[in-house]
Amino acid sequence: MKLGSWPVLCLGILFAPIAPVAAYTASRDGNLRGNLLLTNGKIHTQSDSNDIVSVVAIQDGRIVYVGDSEEDARKEVDDSVPHVDLGGKLAVPGLIDCHNHIVLMGNRPGYHTPLENAYSIADVQGAYQSRAETAPGGSFITTIGGFHPNQFQETRLPTLKEMDDAVPSHPVFISYGFAGPAVTNSLGKTFFEALEDPPTIDTDGNIAFGTENGKALLALRQQLTFEDRKRGVADAMAYAASLGVTTHLDQGAFAATGTPQDGAASEDLYSMHLPWLRVYDDGEGIIRLRINFLHMDDTADVPTVQQRLLNTYQFFGNDMVRTGSIGEFATADYAGGPVFEEAALRIARAGWRLEVHSLTGTDYQTQIQAFERVDAGQNVTDLRWVIAHVPLITEEYLDRLKKLGGGVNLSGWMYLAGTGPNAGPPYRTIVDNGIPAGMGGDGMQIAPMNPWVQAYYATTGKNALGEQINEGQQISREEALRLYTRANQWFLGKPDEELLGAIEVGRLGDVVVLNEDYFTVPDDGLKDLRSVLTVVSGVVVHDELR
Ligand SMILES: *[C@@H]1O[C@H](CO)[C@@H](O)[C@H](O)[C@H]1NC(C)=O
Ligand SMILES: *[C@@H]1O[C@H](CO)[C@@H](O)[C@H](O)[C@H]1NC(C)=O
Repeated sequence: MKLGSWPVLCLGILFAPIAPVAAYTASRDGNLRGNLLLTNGKIHTQSDSNDIVSVVAIQDGRIVYVGDSEEDARKEVDDSVPHVDLGGKLAVPGLIDCHNHIVLMGNRPGYHTPLENAYSIADVQGAYQSRAETAPGGSFITTIGGFHPNQFQETRLPTLKEMDDAVPSHPVFISYGFAGPAVTNSLGKTFFEALEDPPTIDTDGNIAFGTENGKALLALRQQLTFEDRKRGVADAMAYAASLGVTTHLDQGAFAATGTPQDGAASEDLYSMHLPWLRVYDDGEGIIRLRINFLHMDDTADVPTVQQRLLNTYQFFGNDMVRTGSIGEFATADYAGGPVFEEAALRIARAGWRLEVHSLTGTDYQTQIQAFERVDAGQNVTDLRWVIAHVPLITEEYLDRLKKLGGGVNLSGWMYLAGTGPNAGPPYRTIVDNGIPAGMGGDGMQIAPMNPWVQAYYATTGKNALGEQINEGQQISREEALRLYTRANQWFLGKPDEELLGAIEVGRLGDVVVLNEDYFTVPDDGLKDLRSVLTVVSGVVVHDELR
């Protein structure tokens, strides 16, 4: 396997100290522009005709050749193009996650360590031991959301003693969902118990759901520096690249209150993007971020939505980082009502996208009814309004939303802790309906970012305990991949829909090579898929092939 000296970004240089607070000194051109020749692959292009080819060439960040002739490909690129022989491995377009919270992941306190692929306490211990090799001694190693004890064969959190055994030199905080429960080890217990307002911790290290979890989380957040957040951003990007998710549509956070009431999804809505922007400014961005703005207005003048519409541009930025629109909340009462409708009307008048989330058996109905009333006065057909998650949506309402030019984002968040028999979303019904649909993880609190775990759930209907909870609503692997690539273009809008989601001449060179064959690996093996080579605009940003 010949692997040339193509540009591999070095994450290590992110740690150089710089002044706190983002003063934008650099011009914001973090665009990656690489040249690369990939040969001998099984490359699923997700083109209209879904061609499978063996050769792809990328020049200055754009795809310039897709086919089966290395000779023809070489005519399109510089003579010095780095070349990777894929050895027959399966490759797909860089995945798009149309709904997650990666900005929160980048702002996590401590050395956040994803446990999305841990299946036992021993796996948790192993992940923490690896992390301890690089996290400075005495620093907190944490996992905040994205997993559930249902994943572990023991179906419980580890104990204080088990985490002492794993990492005696580092304090630990492991918390799941929005607000725990959590567990700590001896060093962590000592730290938390010295606080002015300490959380209650039992002898096994358990910290209860809610306020006790919030007290611990608040103390960790109060220690966070801007440099820590930048390091967290780099870690989140590297994790995403290791899974092959090269584009993320972030759906915001809940406004932090600075009290123990804050959970894993709480952040400062006006500063949480700054460490991300600084990483892009520094030319160290390796995955694409699209930023939706979450609003929680609860008065009829919708003051923050109105200011956002007046003072921000939709789809402004470059092809690495760009603003999105309003989502996944516009108002505190997300299910409908006069405040919701007023916000939706102003968003329609501004010509903006709107995305709201649905979780219950009735909220999507009141939302779509509100959309219809807005549409009667202000045509929203071309705005691509979206209802997200939709675990319980019906065919009638799919049709009504389709008529409004809307779409649905599917996320398999029920995988971790959902129960059957119809946990949803109704993947089969939605795909067969033909409404614009795409898949997202809804990570990082109640669900994993990992798209391969999401694909497992969408194609098998089985939750983390292995129980069938979504009977009759399975889709094929081909369909799930489509929903995570080309179909998600629609959710990004212009110009992304012409640049991402497929391997075609003229598009940006985002390609992911998988460790195993997605189409033939056994069902359980789907969860363990990962990228061995992630390419963003022709630049290798994750590499396990060498
Ligand atoms: C709304 O806009 C769409 C797309 O531009 C158009 O096809 C439709 O006729 C419009 N509806 C009304 C009622 O004007
Ligand atoms: C669905 O896609 C829209 C399109 O932009 C996006 O704004 C929204 O965040 C997504 N929502 C979900 C739940 O996936």
